[in-house]
Amino acid sequence: MTHDLFDKFDNILAEYKKLAESGELNPFTVSMDAVISPTEAIINGKKTILAGTNNYMGMTYNQECIKAAEEALNSFGTGTTGSRVLNGTYYGHKKLEETLKDFYDAKHAIVFSTGYQANLGVISTVAGPKDYVVIDADSHASIYDGCAMGNATVVRFAHNNPEDLEKRLARIRRKDPDAGILVVIEGVYSMLGDQAPIKELATAAKKHDAFVLVDEAHSIGVFGKTGRGVAQEQNVEHLVDFTVGTFSKSVGTVGGYCVSNHPKFETLRLVCRPYVFTASLPPSVVASATKALELIKDSNLRVKLLENSMRLNKGLANAGFNMGTTGESPIAAIIIDDKQTAIAYWQNMMKEGVYVNLAVPPATPNGLNLMRCSLSAAHSFEQIDYMLEKFIAVGNKLNVLG
Ligand SMILES: Cc1ncc(COP(=O)(O)O)c(C=O)c1O
Repeated sequence: MTHDLFDKFDNILAEYKKLAESGELNPFTVSMDAVISPTEAIINGKKTILAGTNNYMGMTYNQECIKAAEEALNSFGTGTTGSRVLNGTYYGHKKLEETLKDFYDAKHAIVFSTGYQANLGVISTVAGPKDYVVIDADSHASIYDGCAMGNATVVRFAHNNPEDLEKRLARIRRKDPDAGILVVIEGVYSMLGDQAPIKELATAAKKHDAFVLVDEAHSIGVFGKTGRGVAQEQNVEHLVDFTVGTFSKSVGTVGGYCVSNHPKFETLRLVCRPYVFTASLPPSVVASATKALELIKDSNLRVKLLENSMRLNKGLANAGFNMGTTGESPIAAIIIDDKQTAIAYWQNMMKEGVYVNLAVPPATPNGLNLMRCSLSAAHSFEQIDYMLEKFIAVGNKLNVLG
């Protein structure tokens, strides 16, 4: 009998050690030696196409964003050294929140230090001990963790299934007619890239007087006439009470937000622990996020991004790969039967100069092993055709294509 607190991780450690000692590239220790552009980096001394960085709009190297960040860095310093409710609210944080309100045409906007904290904070705070949080079974870890941190009763419904949601809501209402209910969904699901049927899900929620939170982490910038996300794309923004999102993907920096028209929304600034008890974002980050949102709103990069996405998704599907979805988003996910083949696939793609995400449980739904790509508007067709060529070559080599 040992009391070592780390013993419970022995299995995971053994697997990791085997990989580290194999002499092959390790998908969990990738380090960028240098970054050339939103779509290329030097990894292990090799020029590599980046096909899995969620840099949907290529904003990380936008010159206007860099200039805004530099100016803020020079005027306001490297960090705020404090919480938003103490010394950590600067001119830039307020401007970013104003920009978000304008972007979403919403009455209120609160900026968090990450998207993870936005979900953690909003879910754990608004749903209290007598309330219910009803979440899609394939929800992101930050949604699950928001539930775990809060005191509400958590109920899961089958992924993207309005009938199952309706059934569960009806059961809650029969049992607890007065309970507050928060239904949480994502605009685009990050692993397979499928969209939520927001209208059907939110209609079920409204029928039972539940609030609706949509996490647009992978859809801000990408979908909707002005880039607000899937709810805008599907014309159902009026059914959404809270929109959560991140600046770490299309916006090209780091940070999270929640916007809402709820008249008491600002209360969160006083009671939401992941907002109150953490340092605010650095001024340079806030400034580049603000500029990126201004640019994204009127951008035609969405068109190029979705063209890129269709080119890769269709190319892979036509080649005979087992795909998660077929081009509903800039995400392309190839389903690989077993984890060892998925690791070998990833290593072979790296040798060919293409970085993709190896996505394995528990990060994936239904225990799937995935080669996951997230495309950028900054990718050229040549780069996409190169990815395709290498995916097919490695697929043939490893008998993934039969
Ligand atoms: C659906 C979803 N929500 C929230 C997050 C967290 O965002 P952040 O990287 O800003 O913490 C992610 C990030 O991967 C995500 O995919």
